[in-house]
Amino acid sequence: MRQTSNPESTQREHIPTDIFASADQACTGIADAICELITARKTAGKPAVLGLATGSTPVRLYRELIRRHREEGLSFANVISFNLDEYYGLTGEHPESYRRFMREQLFDWVDLRPENRNLPDGALPREDVLASCRAYEEAIREAGGIDIQILGIGRTGHIGFNEPGSSPESRTRIITLDSLTRRDAARDFLGEENVPRHAITMGVGTILDARKIFLLAWGEAKAEVIAQSVEGPQTDAIPASFLQKHPDCVFCIDEAAASHLTRVRHPWLVGTVEWSPEMIRKAVLWLSRKTKKPLLKLIEEDYSENGMADLLTEKGSAYELNIKMFNTAQHTITGWPGGKPDADDSHRPERANPFPKRSLLLSPEPLDDIYCMGGTLHRLVNQNNDVTVAYLTSGNLAVPDSEVRRVIELMLELGEERESVDDLKFARLLERQLREKGDFGDDPPEVRRLKGLIRRTESRSSARLLEIGSDRLRFLDLPFYEHGRYRTFQPDEKDTKRLIELLREIRPHQIFATGLGNDPLSVPALCFEILRNALAASQSEAWLKDCYIWLYRGPGMEWETHEIDMAVPLSPDEFENKIQGIYQHQTQRNQSPNLGKDDNGNTWSLASKINRATASSYDELGLAEYEAIEGFRRFDLNR
Ligand code: F6R
Repeated sequence: MRQTSNPESTQREHIPTDIFASADQACTGIADAICELITARKTAGKPAVLGLATGSTPVRLYRELIRRHREEGLSFANVISFNLDEYYGLTGEHPESYRRFMREQLFDWVDLRPENRNLPDGALPREDVLASCRAYEEAIREAGGIDIQILGIGRTGHIGFNEPGSSPESRTRIITLDSLTRRDAARDFLGEENVPRHAITMGVGTILDARKIFLLAWGEAKAEVIAQSVEGPQTDAIPASFLQKHPDCVFCIDEAAASHLTRVRHPWLVGTVEWSPEMIRKAVLWLSRKTKKPLLKLIEEDYSENGMADLLTEKGSAYELNIKMFNTAQHTITGWPGGKPDADDSHRPERANPFPKRSLLLSPEPLDDIYCMGGTLHRLVNQNNDVTVAYLTSGNLAVPDSEVRRVIELMLELGEERESVDDLKFARLLERQLREKGDFGDDPPEVRRLKGLIRRTESRSSARLLEIGSDRLRFLDLPFYEHGRYRTFQPDEKDTKRLIELLREIRPHQIFATGLGNDPLSVPALCFEILRNALAASQSEAWLKDCYIWLYRGPGMEWETHEIDMAVPLSPDEFENKIQGIYQHQTQRNQSPNLGKDDNGNTWSLASKINRATASSYDELGLAEYEAIEGFRRFDLNR
């Protein structure tokens, strides 16, 4: 559902922004606009000119357009398309080239004529690039200009590949990719070193010439840059902010991507709010951060000078509110994530009974478990809960070929030493397959399997550090992940069934899960959707009525203090043990932007920073000072 906004709450926004409950709902509206354009132009005997984007963001829109083509007869016969950009140095056959992306995600499935599809050519010799960029601009002009431009946004604020520093007048050209952009693409390219350094992109000026612009954004990773683009000044530090100049540009975003807009994050600053308990908690904890004062030191002036005077009128004095919020925050802290047996649990996040609990941790890929909640996991085990860790996907795509080569070498050495013909034969088969597929070819099933097994061994050795036996680990290898690459995954009932079976077998008292608010095409988000479906199908089961669902935040992120319902503090030793556990996932050290490296490119340092930052936030509220904290949010299934 599209949220209606009022002018008061959007007073800081310089671009019309529609917030949708899901990406799919947003895409329906944009697909409607595209259909209307195509139909109107067809009636007038003219072409419709579309500006198209690639990346994760538009995939659902393209799926909707393909559906309408198949089921509702939408024809693209009168469409001319221009893509925003292309990596420089890749041929159209490279699996990560945008040319190939467009074929796989849209062109192969609709009747858009090959001669009407325009993309910058990333394979041209350097000396021909300038002329081809000019020709691209000319082709757009000749087509009559772009009617509807679809945009995504990068975490640097780029649109197209117009990185920070791009001027609003810039035109189609070759650019150098920002290091953050390259890190974000590292996973797709199986390592940052494989990501091209340059790209050809339409300029900001080219984009601004479009008659209508829709910018799409999903997931919390985009929230900050969305707020900067919509509410901040127009600046080349955030090229998307130049869209404020455009007379007909709309941002269509989901709730997670909207979460940093003032009307969502600090609504009391832009109008009257309904002071629900959650809102009070959010506002008072924010006030403490903003004024840099512990909760118990906030005074009436702090409240009234920061848009919260009506809260005092409605809910009592600063003194009362401070104490109430202090206690609420204090009660989130527990060293007993599985509940403390025989203790008064009226102010504890988890129930005392039953004890021990059957605790089920769902890890979308190996490593998410220890990275996000290794300390809590260790406690659950030490406190004698009945813990199962289920790895939903094998995670095989994230293993670089270099790691497989090492294992094959080992297999060959062993095979020779033991003179085992079969082993040698198999190792040589793998060696040949790896060679033949090249750096970016799809892995044959045997290689994929081996990569999955490598990740299993890493999970086992990290679990050993947490004193979790192999028999407590379950590798579900959900089928959706075993075919295709990132962005092409489409889970179905086979995946849900596998999870339902596990839930039935374990009948957990508590489930730890993640993925809410992520980019909907990401593996954690798909896994969360599968969990939702599995829980919906288990509604009638008795165990579910007595099951708490705890959400941990994905790797590289943490809940804000007001969102945390259970905070598990870790001692320095426990924390160090967790970090050692993370190190066991050696194949991942250079992989995903959020896992291995921080924004400065330092390997693994993010992992330790995040839990320490949460501990500092609690300390700054005036609560006890811990080494590190892992935070969880209670999830209400019926919400
Ligand atoms: C792609 C493009 C880029 C992406 C942006 C977001 O053609 O122009 O600006 O839209 O990098 O990428 P995703 O959608 O993968 O998050």
